[in-house]
Amino acid sequence: MDSYKITLSEQELPQEWYNLIPDLPTPLPPYLHPATGEPIGPQDLAAIFPMELIKQEVSQERWIPIPDEVRRIYQLWRPSPLHRARNLEAALETPARIYYKNESVSPAGSHKPNTAVAQAYYNKAAGITRLATETGAGQWGSALALACNFFCLDCTVYMVRVSYQQKPYRRSLMHIWGASVYPSPSDRTQAGRHILARDPETSGSLGMAISEAVEDAATHPDTNYSLGSVLNHVMLHQTITGLETKKQLALAGEEPDILIGCVGGGSNFSGFCFPFVPDKLRGKEIRLIGVEPTACPTLTKGAYTYDFGDTAGLTPLILMYTLGHSFVPSGIHAGGLRYHGDAPLLCLLVHEKVIEARAYSQNPVFEAARLFAETEGIVPAPETAHAVKAAIDEARVCKETKKAKCIVFNFSGHGHFDLAAYDAYLEGKLEDIEIEPDEMIKLALADLPKIKK
Ligand SMILES: Cc1ncc(COP(=O)(O)O)c(C=O)c1O
Repeated sequence: MDSYKITLSEQELPQEWYNLIPDLPTPLPPYLHPATGEPIGPQDLAAIFPMELIKQEVSQERWIPIPDEVRRIYQLWRPSPLHRARNLEAALETPARIYYKNESVSPAGSHKPNTAVAQAYYNKAAGITRLATETGAGQWGSALALACNFFCLDCTVYMVRVSYQQKPYRRSLMHIWGASVYPSPSDRTQAGRHILARDPETSGSLGMAISEAVEDAATHPDTNYSLGSVLNHVMLHQTITGLETKKQLALAGEEPDILIGCVGGGSNFSGFCFPFVPDKLRGKEIRLIGVEPTACPTLTKGAYTYDFGDTAGLTPLILMYTLGHSFVPSGIHAGGLRYHGDAPLLCLLVHEKVIEARAYSQNPVFEAARLFAETEGIVPAPETAHAVKAAIDEARVCKETKKAKCIVFNFSGHGHFDLAAYDAYLEGKLEDIEIEPDEMIKLALADLPKIKK
């Protein structure tokens, strides 16, 4: 019988996360202090992060044990299934074998709880009682609300204003799990008030919401900040997806030719691909493709330079591809992909040409999502649909070249709370944001911080 799903038992849940840092082809440049231009130390981060996460951020250990308390919560939905997309393959008449790792089975509907649960655990262990965070489309906010609910922590979420309006049911989900949710920019923080004074009609951005959450955490001793992507420890926690996928592909007797994921801050893509990077560095022919929106083309059009992680300039300086921390992307429905920068680990690998990047606009992405929903049944989140589109494009290339490649992508989340976006697509009302934001990028890049030497 042809199988559609490759599953692992709960006993096969990985016991350790994989840390790519010791296996990098070149060392990862440090975060810098904006005032001095010097590398920051653990104490600089201790005001808003627990020490265990700070240690993970810089760890040189290849394998980091997953605490039992975290594994027990993972077990509620993990290991997640790896699906063979046989119906999609048939519809495309491709000789390619397409697989997708289904992270939409988590309670919050995406990969985000993989790090939310770990972060809530380490903060609780450090005696923190509240976490503050930002969220774009609401996937990360709902994941952290879920995790805080399990560990009895309060949770404050600054939700990008355009998504707060577009996705009311994500808000409901966060409320069910006990979080407080505010549209960002808000008047609760100095950063928010400052932005509102300059531009009262702003649609908001992840950079602005990060400024608000960081300020909230830094000004309350019982509160820490929690970030849903970008940082090394977030990539680390997400490697659970790639590690499971490796085991599942081995069970299916497969070696991947192409691995694909969408990129917002880089966590689902990195967690999925990083366990395969050492294979590639040892000479295995695997293409790793990160996919982003043309409306926020960080990897494909950004500059590789030090920049702030947030709009107000409260974070350390990070070496990454960036569109400039003042860049405000248009209000596309893939709200989780509207971030001006990307994870430094991922950016280093793009810079070293280990990872490729490409960008798509909204309508072709939704067209691919619809074909996926028609054939495989699951409605992808608009973010995830970027990966779906790339997988379909690669499968079509296989049809032309008659090559039977093994294409595997990370299905990072479902779109059950994004149905207004699908309505807009079906009614032909979705704008293709092809404004070629080159001018906006140029302006935002002119605003880059000057590094003191
Ligand atoms: C379903 C889904 N996929 C992908 C992303 C992009 O984030 P990251 O690049 O950190 O995985 C998001 C962000 O919110 C998301 O909600």
